[in-house]
Amino acid sequence: MKASDTKATLSFSNGGDSVELPIYKGTVGPDVIDIRKLYAQTGMFTYDPGFMSTAACQSAITYIDGDKGELLYRGYPIEQLATNCDFLETCHLLLYGELPDQGKKTNFTKLVTNHTMVNEQMQFFLRGFRRDAHPMAIMTGLVGALSAFYHDSTDINNPEHREIAAIRLIAKMPTLVAMAYKYTIGQPYMYPKNDLSYAGNFLHMMFATPCEEYKVNPVLERALDRIFILHADHEQNASTSTVRLCGSSGTNPFAAIAAGVACLWGPAHGGANEAALNMLYDIQKEGGVEKIGEFIKKVKDKNSNVKLMGFGHRVYKNYDPRAKLMQETCNEVLTELGLENDPLFKLAKELEKIALEDEYFVSRKLYPNVDFYSGIVQRAIGIPVPLFTAIFALARTVGWIAQLNEMIGDPEYKIGRPRQLFEGSPKRDVQPIGKR
Ligand code: SDX
Repeated sequence: MKASDTKATLSFSNGGDSVELPIYKGTVGPDVIDIRKLYAQTGMFTYDPGFMSTAACQSAITYIDGDKGELLYRGYPIEQLATNCDFLETCHLLLYGELPDQGKKTNFTKLVTNHTMVNEQMQFFLRGFRRDAHPMAIMTGLVGALSAFYHDSTDINNPEHREIAAIRLIAKMPTLVAMAYKYTIGQPYMYPKNDLSYAGNFLHMMFATPCEEYKVNPVLERALDRIFILHADHEQNASTSTVRLCGSSGTNPFAAIAAGVACLWGPAHGGANEAALNMLYDIQKEGGVEKIGEFIKKVKDKNSNVKLMGFGHRVYKNYDPRAKLMQETCNEVLTELGLENDPLFKLAKELEKIALEDEYFVSRKLYPNVDFYSGIVQRAIGIPVPLFTAIFALARTVGWIAQLNEMIGDPEYKIGRPRQLFEGSPKRDVQPIGKR
């Protein structure tokens, strides 16, 4: 970052000394006011629950222009990456800052492929769960448990450890998600196959059985690979901020990523894809397209507590570019499977059309986000609804680990420790129980 030639002056109406605060400029996007010395100079904190106006770090990985509806990974527009690259090239880009040439891509792919198996003990860890456990409950446990197996890559301050932990996490997430799925349906686990692509291998581990090979459909394989690209990273969202804050204590990368998995599960965040599909099912059950008006009315009634899941975003005040690409992927997959008239997809498009013409959504700049169509395409591929967020976690792992490594590699980083505005009881003395 570079210092701006303008400063911010904070003055106080009670005549207190004013304070000069430096302003820094990034490459693109809003400048920042450096308030690190504010408490020392004024004895006051800033107040910003939800971090609506707070930059918690500097980063060079992902940039979102919410007004334009633009998403860049290391400067490359998501539309170009989703069309011209595959997920492992995108992983290389997010981790190392550049797209790989053919040689680097071959080496990186081989490295990831050779780390896809998990320790055989992992299957016994799964046995502790009920068969009907939610896959995200299993994933939160499994990812944290990885730190019990890889003591040779848990020192977050050792660059080699960070590198191998990143490869292990990217490589093993598909294996763990497939194991979580197989466990819930009572089928045996399928080992990874090194002659398959990253997405193809995941489909194999999900849908093959010891009795029957799974023939990878290239259209589904490409669609899933694109879904991974679209979910790979997204600036300082809730789960990425969780990973950074967790990792800032110096804990091992597996534990920090497990914290990200736990945060992503929430319906306001990565859990929205599961919630959005269940919302479509509910409207379908009520009567489908002709019931949309009634549903929208409920959403607009604050007391109903009903939200249009898959809509709205803290940063995008325009169409989420990922939602557009997801809709296209939806079309491709449904056409490939002869499901062009899928009633849920038609319902979703009608719901989007009606919402985008309704003043409530227009005035609040609420548009479809990445979660609105992703459930429909995953369901068409055959992925069960409760697994949608685990797929999101699988794809986001590369973003989490890239952001964590960027933080640890920043000489300025410190353990994160926010302060508060205290409005509880001032000091008071404990009374004997007879006098309470
Ligand atoms: C992800 O941060 C990221 O980058 C996240 C993510 C990523 O890749 O990491 O993009 C992934 O989490 C996408 C978002 C998935 N969540 C959902 O689809 C759940 C539904 N969306 C909302 O819960 C909400 O839009 C949020 C949580 C996404 C954003 O919430 P904000 O920024 O805190 O906005 P807000 O709740 O203050 O909403 C502003 C207004 C409010 O109404 P008023 O108080 O002004 O009257 O818009 C309303 C909200 O009630 N509103 C909605 C709505 N979203 C916002 N009303 C109905 N349906 C919705 N979906």
